[in-house]
Formats: sequence, structure tokens, C-alpha cells
Amino acid sequence: MSINTFGHLFRFTTWGESHGPALGATVDGCPPGIALTEEMLQVWLDKRKPGTSKYTTQRREPDQVEILSGVFDGKTTGTPIQLMIRNTDQRSKDYGDISEKFRPGHADITYFQKYGIRDYRGGGRSSARETAARVAAGGVARAALAQLIPDLEIKGYMTQIGPNGIIGARDMAEIDNNPFWVPSAVTAQNWAAYLDDIRKSGSSVGAVVEVVAKGAPAGLGAPIYAKIDTDLASAMMSINAVKGVEIGEGMNAARLTGEENADEIRMGNDGPRYMSNHAGGILGGISTGQDLVVRFAVKPTSSILTSRKTITKAGEDTDLITKGRHDPCVGIRAVPVGEAMMACVILDHLLLHRGQNGETPLGVFGE
Ligand SMILES: Cc1cc2nc3c(=O)[nH]c(=O)nc-3n(C[C@H](O)[C@H](O)[C@H](O)COP(=O)(O)O)c2cc1C
Repeated sequence: MSINTFGHLFRFTTWGESHGPALGATVDGCPPGIALTEEMLQVWLDKRKPGTSKYTTQRREPDQVEILSGVFDGKTTGTPIQLMIRNTDQRSKDYGDISEKFRPGHADITYFQKYGIRDYRGGGRSSARETAARVAAGGVARAALAQLIPDLEIKGYMTQIGPNGIIGARDMAEIDNNPFWVPSAVTAQNWAAYLDDIRKSGSSVGAVVEVVAKGAPAGLGAPIYAKIDTDLASAMMSINAVKGVEIGEGMNAARLTGEENADEIRMGNDGPRYMSNHAGGILGGISTGQDLVVRFAVKPTSSILTSRKTITKAGEDTDLITKGRHDPCVGIRAVPVGEAMMACVILDHLLLHRGQNGETPLGVFGE
């Protein structure tokens, strides 16, 4: 059984491989009448595309998105939206070695064990090129959210690279000013020197990415099996290389006392006002109206220039140096992917809320 679809009511199915002619997403369930153009989606794809700095893979892909269906006169029609991104810079000869050998830490061995056949070129379906399709689908979700929750703002940024965190106070205005999407100019300089050394040595490092949604109304999500945190965790964990996901305090909640962790409440002018946000904006699977805060950890890129021990398809011991063009830290390009997944989950839960509660507005306080 293969599942390439994400979401309940707002659903997207991604298709395609790293070195095939194209890849894309089929988006189903988008409300009709949403203003949507290729230019609106391209903004997000440009954030994720490779080769924008020396800190990402040097594969040159314009990642130009084409809308093939579901949009008429600049508006969604309620029918499936087919999105396509052509691959233009394949270099399959770089991957000759991994046709016979499995990269330690990559999905080569498990795809082979499961299916007995795999498109090894650029990692095939396990390549993070697949995430371009999600970013395109996330762009559709963002377009719908811009109309349905105009105050919503989704922002992702890196908070850690290897062992290095953010130096000093966060300055959110800096996020778009550096190649790491880190909210601190001095940290960006520090990380640049660090990643330069890692990159030149042919090695790689992991990272932590935080994604925050501001302006999401209270009431998104539902108890028990439809918790919005369940879907956010699933969304982020489905991104390639993600090995850990946290909501709010996450793992750190185990260290806190009840007094420290529970977010106290006062009545504000237009509804409840929380005095802290350890919960990451979610209680009982339902959004509180505070910022939704999700963090995920990505592992270090497994394709590295250091010789590693592995086996061949024939079962012989061998060594492998992975050639080709790779991200020295996948966390950088994972930022827009995390943002896209956040957008898809929020829109999906908005539609689920409407499905059960009809036109009852979200976030209203009172009986
Ligand atoms: C944005 C992004 C870029 C990535 N770039 C690379 C890469 O250049 N080389 C590589 O080996 N893995 C890269 N990865 C990670 C692999 O796609 C991933 O490790 C692989 O699919 C195996 O899945 P797993 O790590 O989730 O187990 C990237 C991941 C993301 C999110």
C-alpha cells in the first residue's frame, strides 16, 4: 500500500522523482473562488529552490511552477489543481556509484529492500526535490488562507545549526536578510564561517527549524484523534531528514513544574489573554488563539565526501564516497517546506471545523 497524499479535506498528492522529466502535486479540496496565479506560488518556490547561496546544493533548478488545471480567470474552481515543476538540471552520471552501493544514512537500502527496484538517480523519489511539490501545494493553501484568515502570518526560521544556537536576542526583522533564515545578523555571520568549514571539508551538519503561525483563531483542531498537534507533527515528520518534532515546550516540558508550564489566563478586552505560551498554542488538540509553535530537527545530510563503509546490491562489503551536488545542511531549505506544511494543516483544520460546526465562527468567547 502506497500513500502519497497528505490532508483530510484540503489534500495534496505529490508525484515525481529527482531525475524524471517533472514532479508536482495534485491539490484537491481547495475552496472555489480563491485568487491564484503561478506568480503567487513562485514566491514560495523561489525560497526553497537550490543554488541560491553557496550553503545549498549547487544543482541549478529554476523550479518554475505551472498550473495545469483547477484555475479559471485567475480563481480556483473547486476542481483538482494540478501543479507541475519540470526538472531541468539532472546529472545522472554523478550517481553511477549508488546504483550498486547504498549510501549509509540514506533511503537507498530501505527502498531496495521494500520494492526490489529503485530509481537511484539523485535518490529518485527519496530526493528532497519532492519537497518542491509540497511548497507549491502550500502556496495554494496560503492563497486560500489569505482570504479566509487574513491576519494569519506563517514564518519559519532556523534556531540551531550543528551545536550552534542563536547568539543574543532574536531580531525577527533579520530573518529574510541572510541565507540561513536566522533571526540574528551576528548569528548569521557566525554560522556562515562554521558552515563554510563543514562544506569545504565535504561533511554536513543537522539543524533545528522553528515554524510559527501568528493570528490563527482559537478552535482549530478537535479532541483525541483529530488533534491539530497530531497533524502538525505528522506534517513536519513527513519532511525528508526530520528526526524530531516538538510543539511549544516539547521535550523540555518534562523538566518543568506545573506552575512553570501551565499558561495562566486573564480576561483581555477581546477575549482570553494567556500570560505565556508553553503549550505552543494548542490545548486538548485545539488551538488557543496564541501563536502555533512547532520545531523540528533535521539530521546531517547523509551524502558526504568522506569514505563510508557500506554494502553492494550483491551483498558485498565495500566503501563509498558520495559524489554529486548536495546540501551541506538541509535545514536551510527545509524552512520554506515547514512553512508550507503549516499552511496546509491550518487550512485543512479550518475546512474540518466548517464541516462539523458550519458557519459558527471560530475563536468566539462566551456561551
Ligand atoms: C530541503 C532538503 C534538502 C535535502 N538535500 C539533501 C541532499 O542534498 N543530499 C542528501 O543526501 N539528502 C538530502 N536531504 C535529505 C534526504 O532527502 C533524506 O535524508 C532521505 O530522503 C532519507 O529520508 P530520511 O532522512 O527522512 O530517513 C534533503 C532534505 C531536505 C528537507
